[in-house]
Amino acid sequence: MKKVLVAGGAGYIGSHTCLALKNHGYEPVVLDNLSEGHEWLVQFGPFEHGDIGDSEFVGEVIAKHGIKDILFFAAFTYVGVSVTDPEPYFENNVSKMHDFLAVCKKTGIENFIFSSSCATYGNPITVPLTEDHPQNPVSTYGDTKLMGEKMLKWYGQAYGMKHVALRYFNACGASHIGTIGESHNIETHLIPIILKTLLGQRNHVSVFGTDYDTPDGTCIRDYIHVDDLANAHVKALEYLENGGESTQINLGTGTGYSVKEIINAVEQVTGHPVPVRFEERRAGDPPVLYANPQKSREVLGWIPTHSDLHNIIQSAWNWELKQSQTKV
Ligand SMILES: NC(=O)c1ccc[n+]([C@@H]2O[C@H](COP(=O)([O-])OP(=O)(O)OC[C@H]3O[C@@H](n4cnc5c(N)ncnc54)[C@H](O)[C@@H]3O)[C@@H](O)[C@H]2O)c1
Repeated sequence: MKKVLVAGGAGYIGSHTCLALKNHGYEPVVLDNLSEGHEWLVQFGPFEHGDIGDSEFVGEVIAKHGIKDILFFAAFTYVGVSVTDPEPYFENNVSKMHDFLAVCKKTGIENFIFSSSCATYGNPITVPLTEDHPQNPVSTYGDTKLMGEKMLKWYGQAYGMKHVALRYFNACGASHIGTIGESHNIETHLIPIILKTLLGQRNHVSVFGTDYDTPDGTCIRDYIHVDDLANAHVKALEYLENGGESTQINLGTGTGYSVKEIINAVEQVTGHPVPVRFEERRAGDPPVLYANPQKSREVLGWIPTHSDLHNIIQSAWNWELKQSQTKV
């Protein structure tokens, strides 16, 4: 079984990708400092507890497991916090990522799959977003992801390490196996926020802005099931292994749903009314973001199969129900 290193594999998307890797015949070795992730999410291969910025440790792990391929999820991810307190974001997502890349160069890593984001585009000029849309992030977080892409570009050009930067849209849902799902320390994502509200863990759902230039006035986003994202990573790895060139690829469905549409869909799936509070617009929220998924289809042959909205919500609801029962 070929081993691959999954940095940040104790997190939400990383743990689902480890499952997909295992299902495709790889052994995922997780490297994670558990700053945000959880050891109980590491279920599909060995765990190496440590920091991406600890060069000696990273070098030892790469040598110990004979690693040639990296899937890199490790980052701080709270967009709002990144704007009010940028220092840890530059330190973790840029500086430590660079330390990690230097070890990759030294140890002859061949392939690198990077978690980038639609946040690198900033406010869209046109939608759907294609990969050649200008990248002008409006948050520190988005800028750190863009810097990650740039470091990979220059490293590839100079030292030959190949990469695929996967620009995710809104990750959501949970695996049907029932033992992994979304569990962030601060939840900022719409679907888990709505579901936690229904479970009495929050008082209401704030909807920021109802006067956008969209059919119902609320923001539109592209929601992609985490199992589809996970499978795209396997395809990206296979693409590089089969001689593919470095590239950047959107991972979205190509369909946008408004905040109100998501709330309605949750009400249909769960049968519970959602307590909503309408508030002012938040700074830095583009009205409409959704992907043009053509490149993901052409280059990776990737077609989302889990991202029907009701399926996403049902899987996330099953996960939240299970989590709330475990906590009781
Ligand atoms: N969730 C989304 O919708 C979304 C959208 C676009 C991009 N992304 C990107 O995808 C990646 C995964 O996101 P997620 O939602 O699974 O986040 P997550 O917080 O659940 O996972 C990140 C993991 O990285 C680990 N980590 C962070 N810093 C580390 C360090 N210095 N050393 C070792 N481990 C470290 C954390 O402990 C955590 O387990 C992130 O890079 C994020 O920026 C996520």
